[in-house]
Amino acid sequence: MRFDPSTRAARDPAGMLDLLQRFPQMCEQAWALTPEPSLPATKPQAVVALGMGGSGIGGDLLRAVLFDETAPPIVSVKDYRAPGFAGPQTLVLACSYSGDTEETLNAYEDASTRGAACVAITSGGELLRRARQRRHPVVVVPKGLPPRAALPYLFLPMLAALSQTGAVRAFDAEVHDAMPVIRRVVDEQGPDRPDSPARRLAEQLVGRIPVIYSAVPFLEPAAERWKDQFNENAKQFAVWNTFPELNHNETVGWGLDPALARLLHVILLRDATEPDRLALRVAITRDLALSRAAGIDEVRAGGSGKLARLLSVILIGDFVSWYLALLRGVDPTPVAVIDELKRRLAKG
Ligand code: PA5
Repeated sequence: MRFDPSTRAARDPAGMLDLLQRFPQMCEQAWALTPEPSLPATKPQAVVALGMGGSGIGGDLLRAVLFDETAPPIVSVKDYRAPGFAGPQTLVLACSYSGDTEETLNAYEDASTRGAACVAITSGGELLRRARQRRHPVVVVPKGLPPRAALPYLFLPMLAALSQTGAVRAFDAEVHDAMPVIRRVVDEQGPDRPDSPARRLAEQLVGRIPVIYSAVPFLEPAAERWKDQFNENAKQFAVWNTFPELNHNETVGWGLDPALARLLHVILLRDATEPDRLALRVAITRDLALSRAAGIDEVRAGGSGKLARLLSVILIGDFVSWYLALLRGVDPTPVAVIDELKRRLAKG
C-alpha cells in the first residue's frame, strides 16, 4: 500500500506530525529545564526513575546512556512500589506527564515516606501538588501534549539534573552534537520527501506485525519505544527484543508455523559502534531464523554521541508509526483504550 500525502490533514487532525517535527526544538528547550528549587550538590548512592508508559521511557533512556559511565546505579521502575533499597541516600525521579498516574504516585509516596530525595517531573496534577507541598524540587514541563510526544521533556531534564549535582559528567556537548543529527531525521523522514525511508518502511508494514530487535543492549529502550509508538500511534500490535539475549530463547521461537512467520516483519536497530561479536550474532540469526519473516529491514542510528544515536533512531521510529497510522486510516493522537481503562480504574 502506498502512502497518500493528501490524507495528512484529515487523518491527523490533532497534528501529531507537527509534534514529531518539533522534536529537535523540544530537545533544546528540555535541556534548559532545571528543577526548582535546585538539587543539593551531593552524589546519591542510587537513582530510581519512576514512570509509566510515555513517562517511563525517560528512565530507560537514562539507564542506557549511563550504563557504561561512572555514575550511581540507575533503576527504572514501572510499579506501584519503590524498590526496597530506596532511602535517604537514593535520588528518586518521579516522572508523570499528567501528574495523575496512580502507579507513579504510589511509588513516589513510598519513596518519600522512606526519606528518599525526590524530584518530580510533570506538567501538573496531583504529583505537582504533592511535590510543591513537600518542597521537593520540581521540573514543570509544558502542558497540552500527548505524554509520548513530550519525550524530550521527560528524559533530558533528568540527565541535566544528575549532571548538575555532579553525580554524572557534563552532557552539554553531546546534546549540542545531537541537534543536527535529529534535525536531519526530521528533514529526511517527513512526508514532504517522497523518498522518506520511514514512509517506505511503513508501507511494508501494512498487514504485518512489526518485530523490533535492537542489535545492542544500548538501543534496547529505542526498540521498546518503537513498539510503544506502533501501539499508541498506529493502534498496531508489535513486539520487541534485544541482542544478545534473544539468541538464548526467542531465536528458537522462529520455528513457528510458516503461515504465522509470514505475518512478521523484522526491524533491526543497528548502532555504528556495534562490537563485532554482536554484528556476527545478528548475521547468523538473520540466516538461521529471521529469514522466515515476511520482510527484514535495518535502521541505523545516526551520529556518534550516545544521545544522537538513541534520539535519532527513536525519532525515525516515531515517523514510521505516524505513517503507519495514516496508512491504516487511524488518528495517531487519541489513545481511547488507555483513557477508558483509567476512567474505569478511577471508579473502582
Ligand atoms: O502515552 C500515554 O498516554 C501513556 O503511555 C501515558 O504516558 C501513561 O499512561 C502514563 O501517564 P502519564 O504520562 O500522564 O504519567
